Amino acid sequence: MLSEALGDYVRAHAEPMDLIASELIAETATMPMAGLQIAPEQGTFLKLLVQLTGARSVLEIGTFTGFSALCMARGLPEGGKLMACDVSEEWTAIARRYWERAGVDARIDLRLGPALDTLAELPPDVDFDLVFIDADKPAYPAYFQAVADRMRPGGLLLADNVLRHGRVVGDDSAAATAIRRFNDLVATDDRFEGMILAAFDGLTFARRRT
Ligand code: DHB
Ligand code: MG
Repeated sequence: MLSEALGDYVRAHAEPMDLIASELIAETATMPMAGLQIAPEQGTFLKLLVQLTGARSVLEIGTFTGFSALCMARGLPEGGKLMACDVSEEWTAIARRYWERAGVDARIDLRLGPALDTLAELPPDVDFDLVFIDADKPAYPAYFQAVADRMRPGGLLLADNVLRHGRVVGDDSAAATAIRRFNDLVATDDRFEGMILAAFDGLTFARRRT
């Protein structure tokens, strides 16, 4: 999104990571799937959004090694909760170690298994103030359908990678096609108002109306 020099400049002026987050980022960087993690400054942004919205009930779809959940959990008020959905025992075992070290493990309800199943099994009255989608791209449209009605009025919907490194335009892959479908769904759904924030890899930024 930015030139390398500007990217470096932005990162040089981001809130420094504490030791626990730095070690989680370093451990994740050694993994083959390291690229799935959000950028450090995106973690800071997510924490700020949780703080600014005053969200007390957060849903994350796609937890990976737990950096985004760590950041969002740190932004929660006393009594706030984050439900973290992921299919990988291996990845979330790493997440759990760092959540525990950071003292946020009691605020995080990790649900192992396909998020669509987890959501389908929740009691109908469970809803969320803030939802962050950052999981398998072909399922983005289904994730939107599953969470839209579980969001409180005024709630904030966020989704990562909605520009697919620019490939959201003119790419016929299953992932890019699904992201386009997701972006169309959000943009045309009267229950939501918002836009795509052209930062990071594109971040859906949409508010659930009343
Ligand atoms: C991919 C997924 C992500 O969530 C991400 O941030 C970057 C890449 C991927 O599936 O390639
Ligand atoms: Mg992502």
